[in-house]
Amino acid sequence: MDFQLPQKHSATQTTIFTQMSTLAQAHNAVNLSQGFPDFDLDATLGAFLAEGSSSGFNQYAPMAGLPMLRGSIATDILLRYKVLINADSEITITPGASYAIYTALTTILCAGDEVIILEPAYDCYLPSIEMNGAMAIAVTLNTTDFAPDWQKVKDAITNKTKAIIVNTPHNPTGRIWTMEDWNQLAEIIRDTSIYVVSDEVYEQLVYDGAAHFSALQHPELSTRSFVVYSFGKAFHNTGWKVGYCIAPVHLTKAFRHIHQFIAFSVNTPAQYALAKHLQLTDKLPACQLLEAKRNHFIAAMTQTPFKLLAPSKGSYFQLASYAHFSHLPDKEFAIMLTEKFGVATIPVSAFYSNGFDNKLLRFCFAKKEETLNAAVERLAKIEF
Ligand SMILES: Cc1ncc(COP(=O)(O)O)c(C=O)c1O
Repeated sequence: MDFQLPQKHSATQTTIFTQMSTLAQAHNAVNLSQGFPDFDLDATLGAFLAEGSSSGFNQYAPMAGLPMLRGSIATDILLRYKVLINADSEITITPGASYAIYTALTTILCAGDEVIILEPAYDCYLPSIEMNGAMAIAVTLNTTDFAPDWQKVKDAITNKTKAIIVNTPHNPTGRIWTMEDWNQLAEIIRDTSIYVVSDEVYEQLVYDGAAHFSALQHPELSTRSFVVYSFGKAFHNTGWKVGYCIAPVHLTKAFRHIHQFIAFSVNTPAQYALAKHLQLTDKLPACQLLEAKRNHFIAAMTQTPFKLLAPSKGSYFQLASYAHFSHLPDKEFAIMLTEKFGVATIPVSAFYSNGFDNKLLRFCFAKKEETLNAAVERLAKIEF
């Protein structure tokens, strides 16, 4: 028998994050590639997980998520964004944000539809669109400040455009959307029926006193948006894979119609723990911790030949250029850096569907100071 497996999407290789983390392990490299912290989560959050399990939260949670978690999220959103969300009908707990993005796309897409993505873009968007029989239309962000070119976005819209995916704070560039960005988008799609999938997983990680503007806060766009979050990024527990999607009642109903048959529900003790943790009022804001790490990394990198781009305004990531001392393509450079110098990073061309290579690397600074110092010590040995 000749079994033929269908090609479900156009990404031909294992994701760059797995590739670089595997290479990092093989070469005992300091891993600043994949976006996960190497420091511990808050001990109380771990204790709540054990408490959840020992107090009977071990069976399937309701399909939409534990009511206590949805309630805690609604309170948190009201406090932080001054937006009233209905915990019963507008919030769905998901096994992470990537799943929520995929499910939102599955909810709205039909074969032949088009979805606009802004590149560089997180690498799950394109396959998630294609696995739904639709086509990703890539619009490149400016190469200097990574702002959207609104004329290009406008030009990319056709009568097949079903959605646009927004990501703020942005992976990999660390740019954050201003309210003016949201207003521009609103103006462009006002007379269309284009949905917005807003990936806001780094919402808690904005620096230098800046504010994160959520699609939830935009009165016009919130009525057509699926807004996606991840507890992993906010509470340093990416391995728990718990996130949520907030959308208006009719969109949430449709989202759950899909969700009930692909995941149905999410890890119950983790939901219990996150609900209890959200209710604590004396948590150290994650942005304080991460801003200190960003500043430490930026200062330390002056000992290396890399030229850092503007300081990251949000997310876990800082971009750096090596164009002035090497002509190697960025993926080859990143591999060489891992193998010869023992530091793993992500080549930014991996975030472009056409492989655009501007000789940039993405460094994850969500690491212990000693990890960042060890990486910089190695990078300082590069001669040019
Ligand atoms: C922009 C962006 N969206 C989504 C995700 C996935 O989040 P989760 O682990 O909750 O699926 C990540 C993870 O790195 C990310 O960087």
